[in-house]
Amino acid sequence: MLPAALSVITLMMMLMISETRGELINNVSAAEAFLATYNAEASQVSNRYAEASWTYNTNITEYNQEIMLKERLAADKFSQEAAWNASGYNLTVMDATMRRQFVKIMDIGTAAQTNETKLIHLGQIESEMETIYSTAKACLAPEKCLPLDPDLTRIFTTSRDYDQLIAAWKGWRDATGPKLKNLYTEFVTLSNEAVRNLGHADLGAYWRSRYDTPEFEADVQALFDQLRPLYEHLHAHARRRLKTIYGKDKFPSSGHIPAHLLGNMWAQQWSSLVDEFVPYKGKPSLDVTPEMVHQNYTAEKIFHTADNFFQSLGMIPMPEPFWNKSMLKKPTDGRDVVCHASAWDFSNGIDFRIKQCTDITQQHLETAHHEMGHIEYYLQYKDQPLVFQKGANPGFHEAVGDVIALSVQTPEHMKSIGLLHSVSNDTETDINFLMSMALQKIAFLPFGFLIDQWRWRVFSGDTKPEQYNEHWWNLRCRYQGVSAPVERSASDFDPGAKFHIPANTPYIRYFVSFVIQFQFHKALCDKSGYIGPLHRCDIYNSTEAGTALSEMLKLGSSKPWTDEMQNLTGQAKMDAQPLMDYFKPLLEYLRKENGNDYGWDPICPDLTPTSSGRNHGSKVSSPLTTLLISVYVFFVCVFKL
Ligand SMILES: *[C@@H]1O[C@H](CO)[C@@H](O)[C@H](O)[C@H]1NC(C)=O
Ligand SMILES: *[C@@H]1O[C@H](CO)[C@@H](O)[C@H](O)[C@H]1NC(C)=O
Ligand SMILES: *[C@@H]1O[C@H](CO)[C@@H](O)[C@H](O)[C@H]1NC(C)=O
Ligand SMILES: *[C@@H]1O[C@H](CO)[C@@H](O)[C@H](O)[C@H]1NC(C)=O
Ligand SMILES: *[C@@H]1O[C@H](CO)[C@@H](O)[C@H](O)[C@H]1NC(C)=O
Ligand SMILES: *[C@@H]1O[C@H](CO)[C@@H](O)[C@H](O)[C@H]1NC(C)=O
Ligand SMILES: *[C@@H]1O[C@H](CO)[C@@H](O)[C@H](O)[C@H]1NC(C)=O
Ligand SMILES: *[C@@H]1O[C@H](CO)[C@@H](O)[C@H](O)[C@H]1NC(C)=O
Ligand SMILES: *[C@@H]1O[C@H](CO)[C@@H](O)[C@H](O)[C@H]1NC(C)=O
Ligand SMILES: *[C@@H]1O[C@H](CO)[C@@H](O)[C@H](O)[C@H]1NC(C)=O
Ligand SMILES: [Zn+2]
Repeated sequence: MLPAALSVITLMMMLMISETRGELINNVSAAEAFLATYNAEASQVSNRYAEASWTYNTNITEYNQEIMLKERLAADKFSQEAAWNASGYNLTVMDATMRRQFVKIMDIGTAAQTNETKLIHLGQIESEMETIYSTAKACLAPEKCLPLDPDLTRIFTTSRDYDQLIAAWKGWRDATGPKLKNLYTEFVTLSNEAVRNLGHADLGAYWRSRYDTPEFEADVQALFDQLRPLYEHLHAHARRRLKTIYGKDKFPSSGHIPAHLLGNMWAQQWSSLVDEFVPYKGKPSLDVTPEMVHQNYTAEKIFHTADNFFQSLGMIPMPEPFWNKSMLKKPTDGRDVVCHASAWDFSNGIDFRIKQCTDITQQHLETAHHEMGHIEYYLQYKDQPLVFQKGANPGFHEAVGDVIALSVQTPEHMKSIGLLHSVSNDTETDINFLMSMALQKIAFLPFGFLIDQWRWRVFSGDTKPEQYNEHWWNLRCRYQGVSAPVERSASDFDPGAKFHIPANTPYIRYFVSFVIQFQFHKALCDKSGYIGPLHRCDIYNSTEAGTALSEMLKLGSSKPWTDEMQNLTGQAKMDAQPLMDYFKPLLEYLRKENGNDYGWDPICPDLTPTSSGRNHGSKVSSPLTTLLISVYVFFVCVFKL
């Protein structure tokens, strides 16, 4: 009999791997010895792959790509062999911790492709997609081709020129999507095939299995439903302000906001428009970017600021190799690099690095804290067995740095580090501050939710290659309330314009993180002895909070995340309430301001030039309850293909 705690997936996986095996090894000491050898060897294999991958990511050349792929193949083959060996042991004789390690050693994802030709091909496709994305340039004019970082990003944060923004928006999509589409289609087929060897239905199912909760999809949907009013009211406020900037005639009657007007390439966070969007414009600005520039902030100073906060909590400082080996600025020697920020664990307990093309802005200050949160997690769990050197679930990993940043961003803290001059303690300042946070946290929710809604359907085959772009826009229109500013066609591949699609990084983790980081924040504020509204809490210097957080991080993925959540927050599940509480004063303000003027048509507006648009009026609220039933069954978008 197998222990009841093993999930169905695990069971299937074990059966598939071990079906051809006869007798199992029942000797627990032998199993222990296997794990010891595995940990030593796997760390080395992983370290070599990480080094090769770092070299490629910080210097994109064909040669470096080749070396990286060689190490990736070696790592994949090592994983296959280890999984096979592990399947020779009898799980029922082990204790829970040991069994958990064996199960994780056998759950090897796309490395489960046993046809070597296909395994190599999959690696090539993935790195080819990343290369295309990371070296792409948008041509705004024949001799004016710009990279995403820093040029296009700066256009989005600073320009209020409708046509220039369209050129940047469309240019970036032209430079990425069409080149990626066929590769992506092939990638879907190959990776599905690989994870099916483990008994997962498709790659999306494999990704979701990381959360170890059978109701995961429904849980996430319920959280999104609960949070939706916050987004709808923020959207309405933003739409009204944008109409005064760009003119009412630029907005479709369906209630959507053209996707290029929100200060971000993907309209995913709207922070760069904080000065336009704050309710009370007479108050001092909350945008600290000019002050950072004025004070000659450098990338190093930004990261030392973050390091200082972790240290004030009694947490682990960034070690010396971090400062020596990280890439904190975009190189100026003409090398191509993957600019998208990331945090690296070299699996040897010593070497941890961040790669970020840091620009001196408030958003990069936040990103620095986010990335350093990953490093702090790596440092905390570095003494766990290798397979437990992971987040309790992927959302936990994304939440650590953000929790810290929630304190850092309070006006009081910004004042204490000299980035804000005056902080007045009045309701209007408070609402302005909550608006600035909402542009970062609430604006992101539907985006964080929809990316994998799209991908899960792509992996499951419900969305076919010829429907990729159409379904993408169905979701963007429905959930985010944004519409394409220019006509799209089936040869476009707009998902490919977002890093995580070509780079094959799951996305629902960010949505999960945005919910649970407020749970963590509340728990840590309580532990620090703070009393008052959640949005003003700053845990700086609280070793009580630091200890509680460290205790959890140290565990890595050795315990189910629900247990870890229970211990820190007193609750074993994801809960949107702390996030709702944090923004409650803002929601009250917005409800009053918006009256009935909020919401949008769930269907994309018609963009064909001759159409006069259907007559929807702008007060249509989207009936969320019907979403799950209709969105993947009917094709509701009215784009002309
Ligand atoms: C695994 O161990 C259990 C408990 O000792 C035993 O009953 C079972 O027969 C073993 N299975 C195999 C295949 O050896
Ligand atoms: C169990 O494994 C250990 C370590 O490999 C070995 O020393 C021992 O002899 C084994 N015991 C039996 C009964 O096979
Ligand atoms: C980038 O990699 C190439 C090998 O493809 C190497 O010749 C070159 O020196 C590297 N550049 C830097 C700055 O490391
Ligand atoms: C798997 O087992 C074989 C035979 O015992 C051994 O030679 C090999 O090193 C093992 N590999 C891994 C990765 O455990
Ligand atoms: C492995 O995949 C290649 C390429 O798809 C195919 O030609 C070959 O027949 C496959 N080999 C086996 C043993 O299935
Ligand atoms: C920043 O640099 C400029 C030019 O080097 C210098 O004049 C100014 O004093 C510096 N400001 C601060 C706050 O260090
Ligand atoms: C790291 O850099 C510092 C100064 O930049 C230097 O003194 C130190 O020796 C370096 N350490 C290593 C391990 O390279
Ligand atoms: C802000 O005002 C409230 C109520 O007026 C007061 O309780 C609180 O202590 C003040 N906070 C600060 C930081 O001055
Ligand atoms: C934090 O603690 C340090 C050292 O104990 C102290 O000097 C500093 O004033 C404290 N800062 C705040 C904002 O409490
Ligand atoms: C939760 O806390 C209890 C009591 O402090 C401890 O025994 C247990 O190991 C903790 N569990 C986790 C997952 O941290
Ligand atoms: Zn991250």
